[in-house]
Amino acid sequence: MKSKKIYLIISGILILCINSCTSENDLKNISDYLSTRSHNMGMNCMNCHNENGAGNGWFEIAGTIYDSLLVNTYSGATVKLYTGPNGTGTLVYTIEVDTKGNFHTTEMIDFNGGLHPVVEGNTGNKSMASTLCIGACNSCHGSTTGRIWTR
Ligand code: HEC
Ligand code: HEC
Repeated sequence: MKSKKIYLIISGILILCINSCTSENDLKNISDYLSTRSHNMGMNCMNCHNENGAGNGWFEIAGTIYDSLLVNTYSGATVKLYTGPNGTGTLVYTIEVDTKGNFHTTEMIDFNGGLHPVVEGNTGNKSMASTLCIGACNSCHGSTTGRIWTR
């Protein structure tokens, strides 16, 4: 299985994401509101859930949601990916956050043109302004930038 990702950064603002995937994921592992089997909250899931890793399934998108205090995880939230910023454009993917506050999917995600996440909680939502080309949310959040949280 091979996946090539090419990022073109034009004038530092517009980011075009051109991904060419040659093969489907072989093992299905998708979170839902009731699932309890995930683990390693806050860690970059794709360290292990990758093409050659030991984790069950090769994740296309995965990460962890916290509450506003950034300490406790937030279960039952919903991650949505839109073609435009702040919930504009087309809603292309919806991923349910599980009982541990984690979300993950092995579904093939088309990042061409870039996607914008919105995290919906029970009393509000949070949007990522910049364009996303990779789904390893915790590779940045909790590392180079703050944890993902919602209301
Ligand atoms: C250090 C490596 C590692 C990291 C990091 C990791 N996982 Fe895993 N994961 C595994 C391994 C190995 C298994 C299979 C054995 C097991 O269940 O422990 C697994 C199993 C799972 C399963 C269970 C699948 C099943 O069918 O029971 C889920 C769900 C899961 N991981 C989600 C996640 C999520 C979400 C993250 C990030 C927040 C994550 N993992 C981070 C190694 C990892
Ligand atoms: C390449 C690094 C990177 C990745 C990967 C990434 N983010 Fe972000 N995210 C950022 C940065 C930097 C910000 C702050 C600037 C902004 O909003 O664009 C941010 C902001 C956010 C915000 C708004 C935070 C706030 O306090 O308002 C949310 C929500 C969010 N990201 C969700 C996600 C989700 C969900 C994923 C995975 C599908 C993800 N991010 C993947 C870097 C990343």
